[in-house]
Amino acid sequence: MLSRFSSPSYSLPLPFRHSFKPFSSLSPSPSQPTSSPSPSSLSSSLPLFLRPLSHSTSLSSLLSFHHWAKAQSLSVPSLSSDLLRQLSWFLQDTTSPHPSQPSTVLLRTELDNLYTLWRERVEQRKPFQYIVGCEHWRDLVLVVQEGVLIPRPETEILVDLVQEVQGFGDGVWVDLGTGSGALAVAIGKLMDGDSTGRVLGTDVSPVAVEVARFNVQRYGLEGKVEIRQGAWFEPLEDMKGKIAGIVSNPPYIPTSDLPGLQPEVGWYEPKLALDGGKDGIDHLLSICEGLAVALKPGGFFAFETNGDKQSELLANHLSTGYKSLFQKVKMVSDYCGIKRFVTGYRL
Ligand SMILES: C[S@@+](CC[C@H](N)C(=O)[O-])C[C@H]1O[C@@H](n2cnc3c(N)ncnc32)[C@H](O)[C@@H]1O
Repeated sequence: MLSRFSSPSYSLPLPFRHSFKPFSSLSPSPSQPTSSPSPSSLSSSLPLFLRPLSHSTSLSSLLSFHHWAKAQSLSVPSLSSDLLRQLSWFLQDTTSPHPSQPSTVLLRTELDNLYTLWRERVEQRKPFQYIVGCEHWRDLVLVVQEGVLIPRPETEILVDLVQEVQGFGDGVWVDLGTGSGALAVAIGKLMDGDSTGRVLGTDVSPVAVEVARFNVQRYGLEGKVEIRQGAWFEPLEDMKGKIAGIVSNPPYIPTSDLPGLQPEVGWYEPKLALDGGKDGIDHLLSICEGLAVALKPGGFFAFETNGDKQSELLANHLSTGYKSLFQKVKMVSDYCGIKRFVTGYRL
């Protein structure tokens, strides 16, 4: 397959993604999946960015598409800079120069479908990640699809917090509400190949479980990372008192805030992944209930919250509500200075 770094022989503007967003079709490297598992493991068809370049069109037809899509993107002034950037990514993810015919371009889907998909992005506000089927997160390119939350940049900090825990590579770690498997895959990938460490990701959503398993396979982590289906601690009965660390980014948005979310989120991302109940904290409190029993003595936890007030409430609850079962409970800020995470240890 052609790498997107091979010099394009056509002259569409194809800027690189941000440096922290690696390309999905680079040749294999330690930060890239080495194989793509069979599409049969995903319920719908293979994500667009992974499909073979089995279609083609003329360069002039692709230029006409680009001209049209640019005009569409500029027709929504409030979104146009995001849309123009994503249009470049869209072309990178779906097209490649023909190796021997400069006037031909290879495509991962029919040209007509590129028009349909871009209309869905601009007119129906479908998230770009659901259109191409992936999100670039840390050093990973994770498959996502409707029914699974698109992992957010701030959640990457949870992985950094885990990495700081002494001897993290040798215990059993749990990612509650794993979604696409982002945290589970990232933590598993950081563990030394020879270490005894394992990661268990759980989710109540069958779609999330399927997508997370797909991502685990893509990164060849089946021996390190296991995905189980069920509500919070339910699939972890066999792990009581044995867990070295628990991370979770549970649904934490207050129900009354859901109608105000931007269309890309509110119309498309699963309510199951967003809705945290009246004050947004219902799931965080449920997780706290099972924490002391699940963690081994000295075990670590790190939770993402809706920020500031919710973190303060949670930190206070963990410090005072459990008869000193937890210690070193603290809040950690995200990239914007919002107190986004609560961490601590089981005594
Ligand atoms: C905010 S998303 C986080 C997904 C992923 N960890 C991430 O950071 O991208 C919350 C996840 O919790 C899952 N979830 C919701 N209720 C749950 C429950 N009762 N038990 C287990 N998982 C649940 C949702 O399906 C969703 O995947």
